[in-house]
Amino acid sequence: MNGNSSAGPATVPNTAGDGLLEVSDVTVRFGGLTALDAVSLTAAPHQVTGVIGPNGAGKTTLLNVLCGFVRPQSGALRFDGTGLTGLRPHRLASLGIARTLQGVGLFSRLSVLENVMMGGTPQARAGFWSALAGLPRSDRDERRLRDRALAALERVDAADLADRLPDQLPYGLRKRVALARALIAQPRLLLLDEPAGGLPEQELPELGRLITQLTGDAAVVVVEHRMDLVMSVCDSIAVLDFGKLIALGSPGEVQADPAVTAAYLGTEAQPGDRPDGSPEDGAPQDEAPQDEAPDAGAADG
Ligand SMILES: Nc1ncnc2c1ncn2[C@@H]1O[C@H](COP(=O)(O)OP(=O)(O)OP(=O)(O)O)[C@@H](O)[C@H]1O
Ligand SMILES: [Mg+2]
Repeated sequence: MNGNSSAGPATVPNTAGDGLLEVSDVTVRFGGLTALDAVSLTAAPHQVTGVIGPNGAGKTTLLNVLCGFVRPQSGALRFDGTGLTGLRPHRLASLGIARTLQGVGLFSRLSVLENVMMGGTPQARAGFWSALAGLPRSDRDERRLRDRALAALERVDAADLADRLPDQLPYGLRKRVALARALIAQPRLLLLDEPAGGLPEQELPELGRLITQLTGDAAVVVVEHRMDLVMSVCDSIAVLDFGKLIALGSPGEVQADPAVTAAYLGTEAQPGDRPDGSPEDGAPQDEAPQDEAPDAGAADG
């Protein structure tokens, strides 16, 4: 453990042995709807923790809580021994927590490289903006940020796309760019919301390898509907249904749990959407790839 329980520097070295995420009794309500109901789980360092469950089960809400977008009404969060409850997203980012969005969310008028640079630290982003405005003081910061962005793109095997615009790329490559944007922050807790959403079946094994590799540096929490991928990459899996944690265990344990099967059968299960992955006819059941990119105007403003 590094024991740096108070405000630490923005860049914390990736070391083994720390980085445990602990979620205790977290409840989130949106008006009358309980999106998370006293959910407790842990995510171990250097492991992949899956979060699965039918549509509307609360998976994205859980990630939103973990990255500070949503404040729980009750419960506690700890990462690496530090209490996270009530911290704002930029503080969580500085503790080494990064995420991808359920779609892609790239700025369409920025190049791939610039999009990845946007995921840098707040300090580095200040350099990025002043670089855009042509201010000289930021030259070195900007170069460093570019190097880090290129390194992040290399990790997802997309460095050759640096100068392209996101809209010129197939969906799978855009998802990789979005992942690189999370990786530039060198996270120790990486939250992935449906990384396989919209990807063709044949791209899943490579995505699986990539996710497994990411555990070299980070605890990975992955929300995913594609059961083949979940079962092959996750060390442990949490199952949510109507905001409640209904199962937690190894892929084998979860697959064999009747409560999990019942939760899936109670919804409009699709081929490949069940925890046991059956029936497996290879038919892709992708969500429509929606690029909910933030208005590029935001990037210009
Ligand atoms: N900001 C919000 N305001 C009101 N209700 C919300 C909000 N965010 C989520 N919800 C509701 O909370 C519930 C859980 O939503 P969430 O997006 O976490 O589900 P999910 O498990 O990620 O589903 P999916 O698999 O479809 O992505 C849903 O009923 C959803 O409509
Ligand atoms: Mg979701």
